[in-house]
Amino acid sequence: MNTAFESVLRGKHIVIVGGGSGMGKATAELAASLGAKVTIASRNAEKLTTVAATIEGDVSVAAVDTTDEARVKAWAAELGPVDHLVISASSAAHGAFGDLPTDDLRAMLEAKFIGPYVTAREVLPYLNEGGSITLFSGVLSRRPSAGATGLGAVNAAVEALAKGLAQELGGKARVNCISPGMVATEAYSGMPEEAREGMYAQVGGSLPVGRVGQADEIAMAVVMILANSFMTGTVLDIDGGHLVKA
Ligand SMILES: NC(=O)c1ccc[n+]([C@@H]2O[C@H](COP(=O)([O-])OP(=O)(O)OC[C@H]3O[C@@H](n4cnc5c(N)ncnc54)[C@H](OP(=O)(O)O)[C@@H]3O)[C@@H](O)[C@H]2O)c1
Repeated sequence: MNTAFESVLRGKHIVIVGGGSGMGKATAELAASLGAKVTIASRNAEKLTTVAATIEGDVSVAAVDTTDEARVKAWAAELGPVDHLVISASSAAHGAFGDLPTDDLRAMLEAKFIGPYVTAREVLPYLNEGGSITLFSGVLSRRPSAGATGLGAVNAAVEALAKGLAQELGGKARVNCISPGMVATEAYSGMPEEAREGMYAQVGGSLPVGRVGQADEIAMAVVMILANSFMTGTVLDIDGGHLVKA
């Protein structure tokens, strides 16, 4: 299997915004192992440098905050030609409909929708023919959960963006969206360990696969999207069966 993916991705420049942790980092590791030239980006340059040193292969770092439009524009112009853009950067806000502060909702929209929108737009002029853009939504868009309605709505917006861009940019770029279920990543590192493990056990136990996901399982799907030149306008659910659970 590696050989088929390697033959398509070797030497390709893959830019992963959010590549310093979680699914973005796992994608960087897999892509670099397949011979791609990888750039990982996020807000924290020091963290990126530390992460890049742990990845074998051709990995560069470039700090950017996707919510800073002027910086995104300058950053994109410094990247050089890009073959594939992956945007896993985001931050989420949870809270019941009546309780979630509007500022938190706005910040989530900025980080998870507007930032990726602007990033994709600014990188597009540097995207090589045959290139692709991969966005990230999440299972809550189509399997809502009380206390996460705002996040579900933002996920749905990301999915609509991917489908709309696939049509609008057809001939220039393929655009797809990964919709993960719960995946054990640094996104939950702020929780006390006991609460986090309890949440993984509870959510995982409710799924057909009986557990939450791992970042490398999502990375496999991202790499498949990058390599498959017939895929565009797809929202790919990698969720352990979350959408079909009882
Ligand atoms: N983990 C899950 O269970 C889950 C479930 C459903 C959907 N998702 C979605 O899947 C995607 C990947 O999630 P993950 O768990 O792998 O995330 P993660 O480990 O929290 O990584 C997110 C990355 O985004 C970067 N980032 C955040 N805001 C940024 C900004 N404004 N500009 C640039 N970089 C920024 C962070 O680095 P810095 O702080 O250094 O900037 C971090 O490296 C996200 O879109 C998430 O919403 C995750």
